[in-house]
Amino acid sequence: MAKKFYITTPIYYVNARPHIGHAYTTIACDTIARRQRLLGSETYFLTGTDEHGQKIQRAAEAAGKSPQQFTDEVSAEFRALWDRMGITYDDYIRTTSDRHKRGVQELWRRIRDNGYIYKGSYTGQYCVFDELYVDVGPSEPCPECGRPTETIKEENYFFKLSVFAEPLLQLYTSQPDFIRPETRRNEVIAFVRSGLRDLSISRSTFSWGIPVPDDPKHVIYVWLDALANYITALGYRSDDDSNYKKFWPADVHMIGKEIVRFHCVYWPAFLMAAGLPLPKSIVAHGWLLFEESKMSKSRGNIVRTETILDVLGSDALRYFLLREVVFGQDGSFSFDALVQRYNSDLANGLGNLASRTLTMITRYFKGEVPYPSSSASRVPADDAIVKHAQKTISDFHALFESFQFSRALESAWGLVAAVDKYIVENEPWTLGEKQDEHSRSRLATVLYTSAEALRIVTALAHPVMPDATTKIWAQLGLGDIAKSSLADLRWGQLQLGTKVGKVEPVFPRADKSAIERMQMIEDQQRTASAEARPDPNEGRATEAAAGATTTEVLERRASSPGTTETPASQGSAPLNKPPAAAPSDGKITIDDFAKIELRVAQVKVAEKVKGADKLLRLEVDLGTEVRQIVAGIAEAYAPETLVGRKVVIVANLRPRKLRGLESNGMIVAASLEGGRPVLAAFLEEVPVGARLK
Ligand code: MSP
Repeated sequence: MAKKFYITTPIYYVNARPHIGHAYTTIACDTIARRQRLLGSETYFLTGTDEHGQKIQRAAEAAGKSPQQFTDEVSAEFRALWDRMGITYDDYIRTTSDRHKRGVQELWRRIRDNGYIYKGSYTGQYCVFDELYVDVGPSEPCPECGRPTETIKEENYFFKLSVFAEPLLQLYTSQPDFIRPETRRNEVIAFVRSGLRDLSISRSTFSWGIPVPDDPKHVIYVWLDALANYITALGYRSDDDSNYKKFWPADVHMIGKEIVRFHCVYWPAFLMAAGLPLPKSIVAHGWLLFEESKMSKSRGNIVRTETILDVLGSDALRYFLLREVVFGQDGSFSFDALVQRYNSDLANGLGNLASRTLTMITRYFKGEVPYPSSSASRVPADDAIVKHAQKTISDFHALFESFQFSRALESAWGLVAAVDKYIVENEPWTLGEKQDEHSRSRLATVLYTSAEALRIVTALAHPVMPDATTKIWAQLGLGDIAKSSLADLRWGQLQLGTKVGKVEPVFPRADKSAIERMQMIEDQQRTASAEARPDPNEGRATEAAAGATTTEVLERRASSPGTTETPASQGSAPLNKPPAAAPSDGKITIDDFAKIELRVAQVKVAEKVKGADKLLRLEVDLGTEVRQIVAGIAEAYAPETLVGRKVVIVANLRPRKLRGLESNGMIVAASLEGGRPVLAAFLEEVPVGARLK
């Protein structure tokens, strides 16, 4: 019987449009799912969207749409992107679907009937952005993300989470692979050891959610609703639960590190309470950073996947993310690094190996894979490649199994480099000019060895780069790669006389203009969204720089005073979120303020930015230098009225690009609700360059 394999992505919130952070998780899961299929497992790959809760309800209101219409649209956008990328999901679950709602209510009943739900009342703070009960005082910001929290006073249902602390700790001990990597596991253990309090699992002051069975004025807490997707999609307790019976428990729940607590503490506790089997493994990866902080809509530093697909294609992105980012750790994204990797590893690496090997087989052997005719003509370098390839196969499998994608790819590309060197040293083009038997035999050996190594790298890389490897496989004359098997991949399977196909470049070299094009598309998108009305749930935050460890967060939590009077309020810091920039009273110190360099500057040049109705390009004099700033004030100020005017600028902002123009600083203006910006000015004469403090 075929091995079963079930893998899931988180279901993505539909308040924000998809970006490459979401694509990262989906790509990793798709790669694993493809590989499992090629290994012969019966594989089920689930993704979908998380569509309930206060955050989504507000985002819909802000967009002037009904929650259903809004979630329909954004969910379809996620799905269309995955389809465009050829993501091989087997099911796409939406939490607003009837099948999901029914399954969640069934799960609730099971937990309730087992005695783990009771009614109480909750008074405390709630962070809508994180959909999390937080343990802070009224008017204090969320210790997670720094956004304002809201006081809620509600009659709620509670889940007896506190009774699961011991069983959870036993789980982490008896199943060491339950949480991966090890660092996350240690953090979760420390968190649970510090004690668990019961958890509020319903809300009664808004309606966008799944009604609590038998008490429909409550809706089920969005995280209980969302986590249940992993079983509702399989038909848990529905008329057709065959997939549930076949695939549950999941082999891998893949998630980002900021939602570890929900998956490693709440989810297994809910399942234990319902008497259901637990997933085998929760694998948490790090964050994709852009411009040095976590890519997120509220920071405005997202990169859209479509931009990369348009310019370099999906395989380039897939390869880059899995090769460049050490899985489990944070990794930076930049267009420069993407293009550099593309050129070095794909255009000059695998692509070049494929085209030179296949071209020479076409030229010297009429397009048929040759076979070394005499073993007497073998040299140690030939055997070294065979050994190297065999080791690469076993290393690659082992590294992939332990989610070390970057090292796995590094090992395969080590073989590409070794074969390149082997080709250069053996000069098949010189051998090809000679007709003597020894030279022909050497040439056959060199080209067979190169082609066989190429076949092996192509097979290994197929789950990572399905499109390009499909082409190389066909050019090797091997037919449909999707029908090949990875399980018994080994040296020597390339058959003598295989007729190679037409040789075509698979990775055309990308020049500098590729970077510029991607940057330009993104700048246009950002300007467009900067000009759009802000989402009320976004952008208020002072999200701190990414990279804080859970331990730091938990330490802060332990040292923060105060508990609330209700049993529901969980500790305020979910695992792995960055500490908030502001201390708990929301105030900053004079030192914090001193970090912001406000200066008087005089406008020297002002002009409209082509194609951007709201932007002006300014050159401002700071006394010591003249700088370019791009400002969104074109609707309020005609450019000619600004020349000569003294303005206040934030002088030490990191430069960023808007519409392809570098903006080096920011002009300070009063921003009026629904109105136009009004520039800060002085009633008395001030010298250019003066600092405001
Ligand atoms: N809806 C919840 C998950 C419920 S799962 C039962 C949620 N959604 S989310 O839209 O915020 O998606 C979070 C996930 O998207 C992360 O856990 C991660 O998998 C992926 N990522 C989103 N931004 C990311 C980065 N900048 N970097 C890496 N992964 C990112 O949380």
